[in-house]
Order: sequence, then structure tokens, then C-alpha cells
Amino acid sequence: MSVQSDDGSDVSRTLFAVTHDGTEPYRSYWSMRRDTPIAPCEMPGANSGSERGYAAYRYEHVERVLRDHSTFSSRNIREALGPAMGRYPLVGLDEPLHGRSRSLISNAFHPTTVGRWERATQRVVNGLIDRFAGRGSAELVREFTFRFPLRVIAEILGLPPRDHARFHRWAIELISFPTRPYEAVRASGELRAYVARLVDERRRSPQDDLLSQLVETRVNGDHLGGEEIFSFVCLLLPAGAQTAHAATGSLLLGLLLHRDQLDAVLVDRSLLAQAAEETIRWEPPLMTAARVVLSDVELGGVVLTAGTQVVANLGSANHDESRWASPDSFDIFRERRQSIGFGAGIHTCLGVHLAKMEMRIAVDAVLDRCRGLRLDGTRPLPRVHGEMFRMPTGLPVRFTPS
Ligand code: HEM
Repeated sequence: MSVQSDDGSDVSRTLFAVTHDGTEPYRSYWSMRRDTPIAPCEMPGANSGSERGYAAYRYEHVERVLRDHSTFSSRNIREALGPAMGRYPLVGLDEPLHGRSRSLISNAFHPTTVGRWERATQRVVNGLIDRFAGRGSAELVREFTFRFPLRVIAEILGLPPRDHARFHRWAIELISFPTRPYEAVRASGELRAYVARLVDERRRSPQDDLLSQLVETRVNGDHLGGEEIFSFVCLLLPAGAQTAHAATGSLLLGLLLHRDQLDAVLVDRSLLAQAAEETIRWEPPLMTAARVVLSDVELGGVVLTAGTQVVANLGSANHDESRWASPDSFDIFRERRQSIGFGAGIHTCLGVHLAKMEMRIAVDAVLDRCRGLRLDGTRPLPRVHGEMFRMPTGLPVRFTPS
């Protein structure tokens, strides 16, 4: 499948480089939870090659790894993100630096602030739907879910519309760091210079946008430096855009595969909130969270020595049968229990309200404007793919043209 960036270049290799068309992973996770819940595994090395580590599969162990941040540090994420992503990626910082940065940023992601971005999100999603609504058919990943979250981020950051295509290209190249480090580092350099210029402008004349908020926020007289702002903008690309794109695609697919649930949502749109929650449990867009052990610890009967790398498998934890009945099924009416798809502990997703708002508005608009929405029965049934980022790689649909 070919997917074009906003500036016209083909980014399908990059976009799906972290996904695999391999077998469905949940079957193997089930046996791991039962037989070897803390299992040795190969870890992608921070610099080259690979090293050994352990993966945790059960909910209770995954939650403990994420919550016990004084034993399980995320500094290995900072190393893995590499030089392209800035020196202070929030998700890869330990305390106290993490708490300081998060407190300066978190106001901007409070539900009331996020509410102010609803209109921009509606504008972006409707602009994209305008392009295919009259056709009666669309490929919703290529034409919609892949496109809107980066545009929403560009809008809320306050980037001038003439720069959106460039921003889109930098974003795609940065996200490809694991597979194309050279392009990612080059894109990072260009984005760094661009953000620095905008930050200077916002210091001189603040606007009603996220960049101005990041520049202006003060907590006890402390404020974010230029490098912290750049690191945060970089993190928004994989953490904010890639995940929201994946989650919206999986939500649409979950509904399209379950006609009765789609019908219920069509009648009562307030069900979209629980449908979004169920999607994050059923197909967490981000499947793993990496940590490194700071001091010897026992986890599930296995002693992990300091320096051991640990992968918390969020996807497996979200399908733990000790917590959910029929965990592999998509069921928006299931009994509500908190999933771990947005993480847990100090690094719990900062964008949770934004992500849910984006999913709700995007799917609501598609359902409103594409009446009779259904999967294109002449095409192979879409599936969710990937072991790190999980998403449907295509969603061919038909509907009544409007
Ligand atoms: C459905 C969409 C999303 C999912 C499933 C998701 C998932 C996650 C997860 C699992 C973590 C924790 C990672 C770890 O502990 O290693 C995380 C952290 C984070 N997410 Fe999200 N995310 C989503 C959307 C967003 C959006 C839209 C933003 C934009 C603001 C965002 C910003 C962040 C940030 C900044 C962090 C790091 C927080 C910290 O370290 O304190 N995420 N996300």
C-alpha cells in the first residue's frame, strides 16, 4: 500500500516499518502469561546489535514495573530515542527531572485546555472527510486516520498552515529513527532550528496556542528551556500522532467488524467514550514500555539484577484473563476495568484526554458524514498489525456518497 505524506512523498515504508505482518501475537502472549510470565527476551540494543532482557506479560507484573519507578527506570528509552529526539524526552526522564518537566507541561493537557482544541480537531477531520465524502468509498487509513493527528498537533502548536507539509515530513522522518537514523537526525536538525525560531517569536509575541503556553508556563518561577520545548515537540510526534492514528483506526475497525456494536453507537454517540476505552484495551496502539532495573529486584519469582532491561508488555497485560472475561474480544459493553493501554505511574500518558477527544471527534464525524459505512466486501478483511505500534494498515470502506 502506498501512503503519501502531506508534501507528496511516499512514506509507507517508514510508516509501517515498525509493524510486522506476522502472526497474531495474543495467542503467544496467552501461553507466556500461563507458563513464563517473566521471560528472557532479545532487546533491541540502544546503540547496535541486541542484548538480553526480560519481558513481563501478566497485568500485575506490568503494572508493578510501571509504578515502581525508583526500581524500574525509563532512562533506556531516552538512550533508545537517540540524538534525534532532543535531550529531554519526558518519557525517558527519571525523577526529579521528570516531575519538574511534567508539572510545567501538564497544564496544557488538562481536560479544560483540551476542550479548547475540539473545534480545531473538528475542522481538521471535516476538511479531510470533504475530500472523499462525495465518492462513496475511501481507504480510511491512508486518507484519514494517518493524516489527522499530525495536523491536529500542528494546529494546536500554532504552526502556520504554510508549514504543515514540512512539519508532516519532519514528523514522519523523526518517527523512523529506528530504521532510518540518518534521515531522522537530519529532520531533527531542521525541526530544531524551526522550533527555536518559533519559540523566539512566541516569547516576543505570545499567541493562543500550545507553543506559547509551553514558553510562558512558570511553576515557582521555573520555566521550560528551549531544548526541553524541542524535546517535547519531538515526543509529540511518536507519542501523540502515531498512537492517535493507530487508536482511531482500530476503533473504526472494531466497530465495523461488530455490526451490533456499530448500530448501538450510531443510535447513541455517547457510547463512543466507552468504545474508545475498549479499543485501547483490545488493541493498545503502543504495545510495550521499556525500563531498566536500577537495583536488584525480584519480579514474579525471577531475580533481575541492576542493569537488566525489562519490557512491560501492555498488550499482553490488557488481555490478561485474570482481569477480563473473553479478553481477546472487542466488546464496548464489557464491565469497565482500568486497562494499562495509557500506561501507569509517573509516566502515565499525558495526552490521554487529547487522544480520547480526537478519537471521539474523528469517528463521530466519519459516522455522520459517511452514512451506511461498511467495510468494502470486495477487498481482503483488514487486520490490526504490529508488535510495537499496533494499527490496521488499511481500512477500505464504502458508504452512501454525500
Ligand atoms: C490513544 C492514543 C495514545 C496511547 C495509547 C498512548 C499511550 C501512552 C503510554 C502507554 C505511555 C507511557 C509510556 C511509558 O510508560 O513508557 C504514554 C506516555 C506519554 N504520552 Fe501517550 N498515548 C496516546 C496518545 C497521546 C497523545 C495524543 C499525546 C499528546 C500529547 C501523548 C503524549 C504522551 C506523553 C508526553 C507521554 C510521556 C508522559 C511522561 O513520561 O510523563 N500521548 N502514552
